[in-house]
Amino acid sequence: MTDQSYAPTSEFAAQANGTADLFDAAEKDFEGFWADQARKYVTWSTDFEQPLDWSDAPFAKWFVGGQLNVAYNCVDRHVEAGNGERVAIHFEGAEGDTQTITYADLQKRVAQAANALTELGVNKGDRVAIYLPMIPEAVVAMLACARLGAPHSVIFGGFSADAIRSRVADAQARVVITADGQHRKGKVAPLKAAVDAAVTGEDSCVEHVLVVQRTGADVEWHEHDLWWHEVVDKQSDQHTPEPMDSEHPLFILYTSGTTGKPKGILHTSGGYLTQAAYTNSIVHDVHPESDVYWCTADIGWVTGHSYLVYGPLANGATQVVFEGTPDHPHQGRWWEIVEKYKVSILYTAPTAIRACMKWGQEIPAKFDLSSIRVLGSVGEPINPEAWRWYREHIGGGSAPIVDTWWQTETGGIMISPLPGVTTLEPGSAQRPIPGISAEILDDMGEPFTEAEKVGYLVLTKPWPGMLRGIWGDNERYKDTYWSRFGEKYYFAGDGAKYDADGNIWLLGRVDDVMNISGHRLSTAEIESALVSHHQVAEAAVVGAADDMTGQAVWAFVILREGASQGEVSDDIVNELKAHVAKEISPIAKPKSIMVVSELPKTRSGKIMRRLLKDLAEGREIGDSTTLTDSSVMDFIKSNLSKS
Ligand code: PRX
Repeated sequence: MTDQSYAPTSEFAAQANGTADLFDAAEKDFEGFWADQARKYVTWSTDFEQPLDWSDAPFAKWFVGGQLNVAYNCVDRHVEAGNGERVAIHFEGAEGDTQTITYADLQKRVAQAANALTELGVNKGDRVAIYLPMIPEAVVAMLACARLGAPHSVIFGGFSADAIRSRVADAQARVVITADGQHRKGKVAPLKAAVDAAVTGEDSCVEHVLVVQRTGADVEWHEHDLWWHEVVDKQSDQHTPEPMDSEHPLFILYTSGTTGKPKGILHTSGGYLTQAAYTNSIVHDVHPESDVYWCTADIGWVTGHSYLVYGPLANGATQVVFEGTPDHPHQGRWWEIVEKYKVSILYTAPTAIRACMKWGQEIPAKFDLSSIRVLGSVGEPINPEAWRWYREHIGGGSAPIVDTWWQTETGGIMISPLPGVTTLEPGSAQRPIPGISAEILDDMGEPFTEAEKVGYLVLTKPWPGMLRGIWGDNERYKDTYWSRFGEKYYFAGDGAKYDADGNIWLLGRVDDVMNISGHRLSTAEIESALVSHHQVAEAAVVGAADDMTGQAVWAFVILREGASQGEVSDDIVNELKAHVAKEISPIAKPKSIMVVSELPKTRSGKIMRRLLKDLAEGREIGDSTTLTDSSVMDFIKSNLSKS
């Protein structure tokens, strides 16, 4: 518990969507509760018969027998309800160009894109990869896929050609949608080139690359390339959405696991949409008639899927979509946008808040932020100091902050305050929301409720937005999430504890997954990128605590031959950093690379990352008695102090 907690005002509570009675309703009748949410937030073309079928656990089926079209729910039904003139998207381009897109406009654009994809041979069930900047076409492309029942796989625009290649191949995507470039802090950065490199070769499954003209930059042109505007703009703006089974796949989203191979997290239609819309309503407290909502996440991450595309659009909200970065052309850009569009709900990541803190409170103070009434945080624990700064300097000292814990796998928010109900405790995500059940287990797999004892977070009941598996790898799904503590518990991979008031505090990953600026990366993925460099024999990577980015990547490498740690030049370190950026993404670039002659290993050959982490975080080195050679750590340590 911290010194001060913050109760909601009675005015806020009186208008809030999320109310205390939801907890009782979910407690009394779990399946009935979710059935009510599904009927409240989603329009079904055929009503479902059974809320949950868990007979084939851990493979869930939600809203069995129901049929819906996700894109219809996000677009058409708002037009049919007479809200066609409501703004769906205020688009703010990186260089200041803007677009105002109403729900009626969005309906036409999605229909045209769906017709275009059909013309290119995309059928229900086919996969489409999307590698785009944060432009309206990204949202349109996702919804067009959803409309056709063609699962999309959005690949974050910062990923490299190799990352695209493996994701495209794993999903066997027939079409890739990209752009001729992207705006990056006043410059044009290439984008299509990475796709070109990823889809070349006889064995590529890609038949067409659809290219949005965003920057006008020159691009290399291949036989399978087509301009988006040439294919899409000529299409009819009428398209009849086909109802899909509730369990029809909606998308695959790749995320890092504990091995070098990313996992294709599979989400389906009815349950996912229900949870995305329900949580956006009760947690962000979106009132579509009056709010202007802004989620700053990129569509390449799950937050962009659930809280930029599916949740807010299903609710008929008006939102801001911003292409640029918070510090271009000046460090007040976000606050300028808040003032301009009168943003009332802002959802962002702690790392961004900490960057703004560093730039200084006088920057947001120059803008009128009085429209803000709810703030959200996601992606990593928010430290109480950043929490207070956020509330004070962005939230006018009064906006509730919802610290939302969830994962790519959960599809939607799981643990979070309800802004009209919960007395807020800075730094804690607090309680599972109504309809969600979590526990903390000890090493033996026993649940406990003692305060301050550290354990493992698990989810104890299926939930509508849950992943339905890992694309093409059911065994990995069971092993990763449903074996550590038996079949009863979904193991999230996070450490957690309760405080004396029963609030849950998330303590970071307990597996070999790191969280860098809210981006999830695996140690194994970066290690395998490092060893793919011809000079590297072995590598160990750890995520070490970092004031700004939450965690930072620290790498320890053994070079092949020739160089020993004494004579290593900066060149090789810089070269290896650039190599990782190229192999995976600039976000994976190690902050520190240290060349060593040995790595600390157990007798069975397992690298003891825990010890390297102690070292990187400047702590006393823990128990090293199981090392084959205990002098290794002393050696690395003495070298670290020299560098
Ligand atoms: O460790 C937790 C952390 O982010 C992980 C999930 O990462 P990803 O699948 O990329 O999804 C991020 C956006 C939902 C979790 O296992 N995490 C996420 N939100 C929080 C958090 N840790 C603490 N507090 C949070 N609010």
